[in-house]
Amino acid sequence: MTKNRFCKAFLFISILVTFSIQPLNAQESSSTGAVSAVQPRSDGLTFRSGDALIRLTIVRPGVVRVRYTLAKMFPADHSFAVIPESVSRDTKVQITQSASVLKVTDGDVVATVQRSNGRIVFTDKVGNVLLADHPNYPVTWHGKEFRVYKTMPQLEQYFGLGDKSDASDHRGNAVTMWNTDAFGWQQGTDPLYKSIPFFVGLLNGRAYGLFLDNTYKSSFDFGKESSDFFSFGATGGDLNYYFIAGPHPKQVIERYTSLTGRTPLPALYAFGFQQCRYSYYPESRVRQIANEFRTRKIPADVIWLDIDYQQGYKPFTINREYFPHFEQMVKDLGDQGFKMVVISDLHIKKEAGYKPYDEGTAGDHFIKNPDGSQYVGKVWPGDSVFPDFTLASARKFYGSQFKFFTDMGIAGIWNDMNEPAVFRYPDKTMPLDTVHRVDSETENRNPAGPIRKTDHREIHNVLGMENVRATYEGLLQLRPNERPFVMTRAAFAGAQRYAATWTGDNQSSWLHFRLSLPTLLNLGVSGYPFAGNDVGGFDGSPVPDLLTRWIELGAFLPIYRDHTTNGTRDQEPWVHGPEHEAIRRHYIETRYRLLPYIYTSMEETSRTGIPLMRAMFVEHPLLGRMEGINDKEYFFGRDLLVAPKVLETVDPYEVILPGPVWYDYWTGKKVEAKQRAAWDKEHSVGVAETPMVGSIKVDPKLDELPVYVRGGAILPHEPLIQTTAEKPQGPLELRVYPGPDCSGSVYTDDGHTFDYKQGHYFRQSFTCEATAQGVTVKLGKAEGDYTPWWTQVHVTVYGGTEPVSRDLPFSREAQTVSVEQ
Ligand code: GLC
Repeated sequence: MTKNRFCKAFLFISILVTFSIQPLNAQESSSTGAVSAVQPRSDGLTFRSGDALIRLTIVRPGVVRVRYTLAKMFPADHSFAVIPESVSRDTKVQITQSASVLKVTDGDVVATVQRSNGRIVFTDKVGNVLLADHPNYPVTWHGKEFRVYKTMPQLEQYFGLGDKSDASDHRGNAVTMWNTDAFGWQQGTDPLYKSIPFFVGLLNGRAYGLFLDNTYKSSFDFGKESSDFFSFGATGGDLNYYFIAGPHPKQVIERYTSLTGRTPLPALYAFGFQQCRYSYYPESRVRQIANEFRTRKIPADVIWLDIDYQQGYKPFTINREYFPHFEQMVKDLGDQGFKMVVISDLHIKKEAGYKPYDEGTAGDHFIKNPDGSQYVGKVWPGDSVFPDFTLASARKFYGSQFKFFTDMGIAGIWNDMNEPAVFRYPDKTMPLDTVHRVDSETENRNPAGPIRKTDHREIHNVLGMENVRATYEGLLQLRPNERPFVMTRAAFAGAQRYAATWTGDNQSSWLHFRLSLPTLLNLGVSGYPFAGNDVGGFDGSPVPDLLTRWIELGAFLPIYRDHTTNGTRDQEPWVHGPEHEAIRRHYIETRYRLLPYIYTSMEETSRTGIPLMRAMFVEHPLLGRMEGINDKEYFFGRDLLVAPKVLETVDPYEVILPGPVWYDYWTGKKVEAKQRAAWDKEHSVGVAETPMVGSIKVDPKLDELPVYVRGGAILPHEPLIQTTAEKPQGPLELRVYPGPDCSGSVYTDDGHTFDYKQGHYFRQSFTCEATAQGVTVKLGKAEGDYTPWWTQVHVTVYGGTEPVSRDLPFSREAQTVSVEQ
C-alpha cells in the first residue's frame, strides 16, 4: 500500500469510528461503492452503488433530488415538507453515460456519478464544482443511522438551519435538529425549538442549497470534527436530500421555498405593534393596557392573552372569574382598533366531561402508548393528551375547536409548547416509543395507502408543524375569506406555509438583543421570513436603555411584539418615564409610516420566499465573507440597511454600505462613506458582481438607530395612524433617493381577505432618472382593480441641497413628474 493510500484508509477508519454513534458493527454497517445496474429514467437515473440503491432525479430546474435506500426497492414516496406540485414534469433532463461516469443535467446544473465508487459531484454547466461527496468517505449506514460526507472548501460558509443561536455562519460548528423547549437558551444552545434541515453553502459569492428531507433527529457538522469535510446524517428514516443550485443566494432560497412552500401574505394588522405578557389579567388590566396605548398615542394593533385567561389552563375555555365579560372585552377592544390573539396550546386536559377531551377520545384522535392506551403527559393543565396531528381527521377535530374563538371575534391563535413540550421528563418531550398514526394525505404519500403507524422518533420534529397546520386549516374552514394569523414556536421545513414564528424564551440581556440578528436572519435564509423575537426579552426585566434600543430595532423586524414572562416588571413602551416613552413612540410611529413599504416587500416575499429581513450575503453574496458582517447589519426589504448598536459599551463602530450611493433614512442626506476599493481584487473570483464598498463610523446615541436607504430606492410611506384599522388621512408619500437602478413599488389590498387573488389589489411601480436639471420620477400604470386609500401622491426627491416635493393627484394611469435640483 502506498503511503498516500495507507493514510486515506487510516483516515477513513478513524472517521467511521468517530462518527458512528453506535459501536462499529461490521454486520450492521453498509456503504456506497462501485456502480452497477444503471437504469435511466425520463427525469434521471437509478443505479446501485455498493450496498445502496440510489435515485438521482431533477425535480425542477436547478433542483436535483438524491434518494438512497438499502432495501431492494424504494419505499412509497412521502414528505411532510415538499409540496407535490413543486415537481415540474416539464424539466428537460439529459442523461449521458461513459465508461467512467454517469451524468444527469437540465442544461444548467450537472450531477456526475463516478462509476468506480458512486461519488456524486454537482457542478454548474461550465464545470465549477458546487458540491461534492468526499472522495475518501462513502455514504455510510450503521443500523438505521446514516451519514453523508462532503468536501469542505476552505472558505465555504454555511447559513440557515432554522433558529440556531450562534453566529449565522455555522462553519466550525455542529448542530442537531430536535425540537426542544429550550427555556433559558443561551448563545450556542443547541438544539432549539425548530428543525429546518436546510442550509445555504456560500463560496466566493456562489451559493447552493441542501435540504435533507428527513424528520428524524438529524445533525450537521460543518468542520467541528474535522476540517477535511462536512457531514450530515440522521438517526433513522430515508436518506433523501435535494441539491439546490444558485448561483445567487436569492435563487437558492426561491428554489427551496418552491419545494417547501412560502408564507402566504399575512393580514396587515400582523405588521403593527403587538403587546403581550405572561399574562395580562384580569379583564380590567387588559382594558387598561389598551387605553394606555390610545391615550398616550402610541400606535398598536394587537393585544395577546397568555395562558392565564383560560380556566385551569385548559385550551378552549375562559376563566370567567378573571374575564366575566370576555366577549364584550374583545368587542370593545375591536372598537378601539385592537385585534386579539390568544394562546392555545396543543395539549388537551385529560378530564372526563371536558368537551375537547370527550370528543377527541370518542373520535380516537389522541396519540397513544405502545399498548394502545392514550399517552398522557403533564403540561400546564396537568395530565393532558395530545391530538395525533399526523392524521387529517385529528387535525380536523382540533381545527374545528377554534369556533369557540372565532365566534368571539378573536383574530389570531398562538400555538405554543408544540415541540411538543412535556414536563417532568429530562428531555422535556414525550417518550420515543409513543405511537403516531400517519395518513397518506398528511405526508403526501405516493402511491397512497392505509394509515401507517410509526413512533415519536419520526414524528417529533414535525408534530408542531402539523399542529399549526390544523389551526391554520381550521381557521380557514371557519372563516374562509380571512387570512389566518397563527404563531408557532416549533417548526419543521414547510411550517412557514401555516404560521409565523418567534425565537422562544429569550432573555432581557444585551447578549440576547445582539442575537436577534443571527437568529432571525437564519430563519429568513431557512425559508421562514415571518418571524420576530420577544422585544425587551422574555426572561427578566430589561434596563431602560435596552428596552428602548429593542423597541427601536423591532420597528425593523418582520414581527414587532413586546413580550415578557410572569413576575417581571412592566415592559410596555411607556414604562421608564417620558424620555424613553418619546423615543419608543417615535420608532413605533416610524413603523406605521413605513407600513406601505413593509407590506409591499412582504407581498413580494409571499411570491418569492426571499425574506423581508435579509443577511448581507443574500443581497451581496461576495460580501458574505467579511468578518462578522452577516451578524451585525442587515437589509430590511431590498432598500433599507439596518445597523444597530448591539453591544452596551461598544466604541464607535463601522457600518459597511455596499454600493455607491447611500442615504441616511432619518435625514434624507447622502452618506459620505469611505470607499474600500481593495475588496474586489482581493476576494472576488468574478462569479458575482462585487459592489463598491463604503464604510462609515457611527456611535448612535440612545435615540438613534442607524438605518440607511439604498441610492436608487423609491420608498412608499403613509400618514401616521394609531392602528391599521384606521384609514390613513392624507397622501401616499413617495420618498425618492436617486441612484443606480432607481425603482420602487407599492402594493396594497383590503389587508385581510383573499380577494387579492381575484385581482382585487393595487400595484404600481415607480422609476426615477437623473436629468440635466434634476430628477424625473415616473409612476407606472396601476395593476389590479382595488381602489387604495389615497387620493393624492406626495413625491419628495432627496439628493439635492434640499429635498424637493411635488403633489400629484391619484391616478391609475402612468404619470411623470420632474423636479429641479
Ligand atoms: C412558554 C412560551 C412563552 C409563554 C409561556 C406561557 O414559555 O415560550 O412565550 O409566555 O410559555 O404560556
